Amino acid sequence: MSTDTTVDLGALGEDFVRNPYPVYAELRTRGPVHRIRMPEEADAWLVVGYEAGRAALADPRLSKEWRNASDSLTLSSVAAGSHMLNSDPPRHTRLRKLVAREFTPRRIQELRPRVQQITDELLDAMLARPDGRADLVDALSFPLPMSVICELLGVPFLDRERFRTWSNDSLSSPSRDTRRAATEAVSGYLGELLEQKRQRPGEDLLSALIRTTDEDGDQLSSGELMGTAWLLLVAGHETTVNIISNGVLALLRHPDQLSALRADFSLLDDAIEEMLRYDGPLETPTYRFTTEPVEIGGTVIPGGGELVLVALADADRDPARFPEPDRFDIHRGPRGHLAFGHGIHYCLGAPLARMEAAIAIRTLLERCPELALDAHPAALAWRHGMLIRGVRHFPVRW
Ligand code: HEM
Repeated sequence: MSTDTTVDLGALGEDFVRNPYPVYAELRTRGPVHRIRMPEEADAWLVVGYEAGRAALADPRLSKEWRNASDSLTLSSVAAGSHMLNSDPPRHTRLRKLVAREFTPRRIQELRPRVQQITDELLDAMLARPDGRADLVDALSFPLPMSVICELLGVPFLDRERFRTWSNDSLSSPSRDTRRAATEAVSGYLGELLEQKRQRPGEDLLSALIRTTDEDGDQLSSGELMGTAWLLLVAGHETTVNIISNGVLALLRHPDQLSALRADFSLLDDAIEEMLRYDGPLETPTYRFTTEPVEIGGTVIPGGGELVLVALADADRDPARFPEPDRFDIHRGPRGHLAFGHGIHYCLGAPLARMEAAIAIRTLLERCPELALDAHPAALAWRHGMLIRGVRHFPVRW
């Protein structure tokens, strides 16, 4: 496709927000790279398709560091501060290694009984409602991951609602001032919390990250601790909520698949992978910037900090990789989907997200044999912007 035409995705309005898949698929038939105007009103290069998307995610010429972004960029970072997702090697290697020392499979496994207990309590409260109806986002999909990430990090219970507002504002508020105010509020709050944990360490991940030292005596600086804490809180708040909601929605809209899962919960792990592929929580991942000209499928994206987005949502619906990609099929076992990214920035929280989704979805289905969508699918309101893919409210009845 000629690159002097900019595809204005913002102009497509609510239709694109509700169902971006056909738009991406149409672009894919024309080629892997397109100049777009985002609904967020910035210009970017969009990579579609599985092969091109996977290659771009691991391309070292696409930097994650904001100092490499073009001066004309009007967007801001998803989680501000110094952390692995805003870094290239060697800084990325160092930060990820220090965090991975403490964010271990064992620490995640130890959370399992708590994840089950929090799920049970949330469902007790939901099922006690006399009208037999609820918004599943408010009742389960949001509070579960929020409680789990706060508990993991050691954020006091009373502060969780404030975090919800800051996290949502900093990611999705249309006002730049609101986004900035939220980021500043978080920095102030985390600075104090880290100081308290320095003085009175607990068993939580933040206390462990303050203490952790590698073989060479290297440690996270105060700025890096703050950035990492913010990254984990945002990642923990804004993604897992949507795998629970989008996954349950896909099941309710495909009754044959729902019955198959209810009849045999050994299909659950494969079903979760299919939910991630079919309607994953991140439509595009965080931003990448060109450090030199990059040629993809015959199109040259100039160097100099051009913004590049990879349509994860399209990569996972590419028929060249997943036959009949628009069919939701929990037996598919879609290995290699890109919902958790690819390459050095592959999601560090994937095991935690999978565990939370499996416990939440299984427990919900077991306790609500008559679970149903309580609205017309077309009436559901979806989150705006190209980053997050998820419903804002999810009315259900049981
Ligand atoms: C279903 C839920 C989740 C999805 C779909 C998801 C998806 C992703 C994706 C696509 C990336 C790569 C971003 C990029 O390359 O630009 C990523 C990175 C990351 N995720 Fe997740 N995530 C989820 C849950 C979580 C959770 C629960 C945590 C932690 C508590 C987490 C922590 C991280 C971290 C720390 C990174 C940065 C890794 C790095 O830069 O090396 N994620 N995630």
